Amino acid sequence: MKGIVFAEFNEMVEEKFGMDMVDDLIDATDPASGGAYTAVGTYDHQELVNMVLELSRRSNIPASELVKTFGRHLAGVFSTKFESFFTECPDTLSFLKRIDDHIHVEVRKLYPDAELPRFSFDDSNPEEFHLTYESLRNFADLAHGLIEGCAEHYGESYAIEREDLSDAEKTRVRFRIVAV
Ligand code: HEM
Repeated sequence: MKGIVFAEFNEMVEEKFGMDMVDDLIDATDPASGGAYTAVGTYDHQELVNMVLELSRRSNIPASELVKTFGRHLAGVFSTKFESFFTECPDTLSFLKRIDDHIHVEVRKLYPDAELPRFSFDDSNPEEFHLTYESLRNFADLAHGLIEGCAEHYGESYAIEREDLSDAEKTRVRFRIVAV
């Protein structure tokens, strides 16, 4: 996983739990990288998972909650670092439709070794938008938080439900997104 994700995770931990917690997580999980992440570097995503699990133990907050919160934080960061993706789209759903065929395509140009998930959508039901996440990794909670963070960015409110369609090979989660 790209260093920008790790660096932003540590940024969020520092903001919410303090700098000592960042050091404690690195000391406790002893990552092969040493815990010094540069934005363009690539690191084992397990290092992030280990830090999340350690933070969950220390804070008594479920790991899934922490990853969702991180997704919301990341959406906020992306909305300033990659502002044009947001200004190009008028609302949350039009933004989500463009992740797979535009946003992550541009991300890959910036970071050719990025390990990106796939997204597909179904907008045939005007009451309910479906976004399906597919990845060899399991960052569905991150996707969930990112969706919430995007909605926050656009000042919109959605109820988000999840259906797990994963099999032995892949994580596959369908998000049912309904305006409330
Ligand atoms: C401006 C918007 C966005 C940018 C710049 C962006 C960029 C990135 C980057 C740099 C990575 C890391 C790739 C790697 O570490 O190798 C990533 C991964 C990921 N992105 Fe995006 N992304 C954006 C929007 C979204 C949105 C809206 C979602 C969810 C609905 C999403 C879902 C994910 C997930 C879940 C991953 C983790 C990798 C995985 O699950 O396999 N992204 N993205």
